[in-house]
Amino acid sequence: MKRILVTGGAGFLGSHLCEALLKTRADVLCVDNLFTGAKDNIRQLLGNARFEFMRHDITFPLYVEVDEIYNLACPASPIHYQFDPVQTTKTSVHGAINMLGLAKRTKARILQASTSDVYGDPEEHPQRETYWGRVNPIGLRACYDEGKRCAETLFFDYYRQHKLEIKVARIFNTYGPRMLPDDGRVVSNFIVQALRSKSITIFGDGKQTRSFCYVTDLIDGLIRLMDSPADFAGPVNLGNPTEFSVIELAEKVLALTGSKSRLVFKPLPQDDPRQRQPDIALAEKRLGWKPTIRLEDGLKETIAYFRSQLEQ
Ligand SMILES: NC(=O)c1ccc[n+]([C@@H]2O[C@H](COP(=O)([O-])OP(=O)(O)OC[C@H]3O[C@@H](n4cnc5c(N)ncnc54)[C@H](O)[C@@H]3O)[C@@H](O)[C@H]2O)c1
Repeated sequence: MKRILVTGGAGFLGSHLCEALLKTRADVLCVDNLFTGAKDNIRQLLGNARFEFMRHDITFPLYVEVDEIYNLACPASPIHYQFDPVQTTKTSVHGAINMLGLAKRTKARILQASTSDVYGDPEEHPQRETYWGRVNPIGLRACYDEGKRCAETLFFDYYRQHKLEIKVARIFNTYGPRMLPDDGRVVSNFIVQALRSKSITIFGDGKQTRSFCYVTDLIDGLIRLMDSPADFAGPVNLGNPTEFSVIELAEKVLALTGSKSRLVFKPLPQDDPRQRQPDIALAEKRLGWKPTIRLEDGLKETIAYFRSQLEQ
């Protein structure tokens, strides 16, 4: 039986990943410091004998016996990663060093949850894995973007130097149940504002585009990547290439919630990318993966989740 470690396992993506891995009959160890994660996200798993939760900060070393490591620990929304930027960089960099060290000792295969933010504000559209990105190294987002870039560097150095079996996923905007209601991410923001009948805040003119991947599609991609042949390390883009403008998203949320909220426009935050769209040709070719859930269907599930949360 495989023993799988999921760091950040009590977070949004991590909790869905733990759930999916338990269905493969693996033993799952979820490690999280609960900074942006919550026990509520994994409460339904706590009774499962193959599931274990450990409160631990991955900036400190961890000694456990495992066969696979999914390294997801890191706050992902600007509000949270800018709250303590030094800790954010430490989580990405020291966290990667600690998890890579653990993978080396236990000969485990290790997957890094990297991000489309490594492309920064891109000049290339859509972004392919060969694009090196355009990141401001001293801006407010740098603790996250540069932290994740450095983690990728560490993964590839361990791969070359220590022959570790690594996998690097560059995750694009993903949404679904268990996102935090007030984390400033566009999908959760719009849904919560619509359900509370508050104005919907659009930064800039709303014509900037985003691509939105539903969580179950993304988790399927992560597991396929982990299970891919040893010679495929990535990096590989995982996301939904169908583009929507931020205004289009707001209109869909209004239609699906039946809300009468108004749209209000505010200045763009620093270093906010104009366009983000993954080129997923590599994932299609090497993993046989592409997203299957339509935005309307994913939004319906997410709206139902937030409705139940707001009623509590
Ligand atoms: N959701 C997305 O759209 C998206 C996009 C790109 C990349 N990612 C990456 O995927 C991963 C998961 O993101 P998410 O959306 O689930 O965010 P999240 O904030 O819900 O999950 C991150 C989890 O990591 C935990 N954590 C943070 N610092 C830690 C530390 N030092 N030690 C242990 N645990 C720690 C948090 O408590 C939380 O449970 C992150 O690495 C993020 O960068 C997510």
